[in-house]
Amino acid sequence: MMDSKSSGNDLLSLTRRNFLKTLGTTAVGTAATQVESVAAELQKLNAETIVGPAPIPIVLQVNGQAISIEVEPRVTLLDALRNHVHLTGAKEVCDRGTCGACTVLLDGQPIYACMMLALEAQGHAITTVEGLAHEGQLNPVQQAFVECDAMMCGYCTPGFLLSITALLKRRPHPDADEVKHACAGNLCRCGTHPRIIQAALKASGVSVTSQTEVIRYADLA
Ligand code: FES
Ligand code: FES
Repeated sequence: MMDSKSSGNDLLSLTRRNFLKTLGTTAVGTAATQVESVAAELQKLNAETIVGPAPIPIVLQVNGQAISIEVEPRVTLLDALRNHVHLTGAKEVCDRGTCGACTVLLDGQPIYACMMLALEAQGHAITTVEGLAHEGQLNPVQQAFVECDAMMCGYCTPGFLLSITALLKRRPHPDADEVKHACAGNLCRCGTHPRIIQAALKASGVSVTSQTEVIRYADLA
């Protein structure tokens, strides 16, 4: 018969043994899981095809048309559109995502084409300024730009047209602040912002014609 002291020690060592066993099982289990996930990652990496640096064939959906071109994987969407698809509406100005001159729509959302690789744009609907007019008819935003004289050198204009077209699609009657917010990523170095805002409002059905109102919109720009 065990005395109470030895029975207490046995219980203690049993508990300690069980604890260490459980800890060991858990540690082994965790290590095994980690090894499995590392192996899965390696398998995924091995399965990925390395492309380039030589040109590779890609297909871009531009203004409703599937266009096949060959570009080096490092080529940006802007470069592909301008120099391979030969649509020069999107402009290269800063080439570093600060001015918005290269804006195009990707699945209806404005993006900087200089900040995306052409091969990443595959499978998405790309709209450039060349895709806004239909059968010789300007879209309402383009028409309003003409009527409001909303351009000077015109370098920024394609980007603004696309940003405002996207805005009016999701919000047909925006106010001036919403127009300003939608165009926050587009810069006009000629300082045409007041007339651009005026044109956006006009395209949405708000007619702003007086000089006083133009000056008031200048405060917003
Ligand atoms: S050229 Fe792309 S943001 Fe300026
Ligand atoms: S019209 Fe010249 S940069 Fe906007």
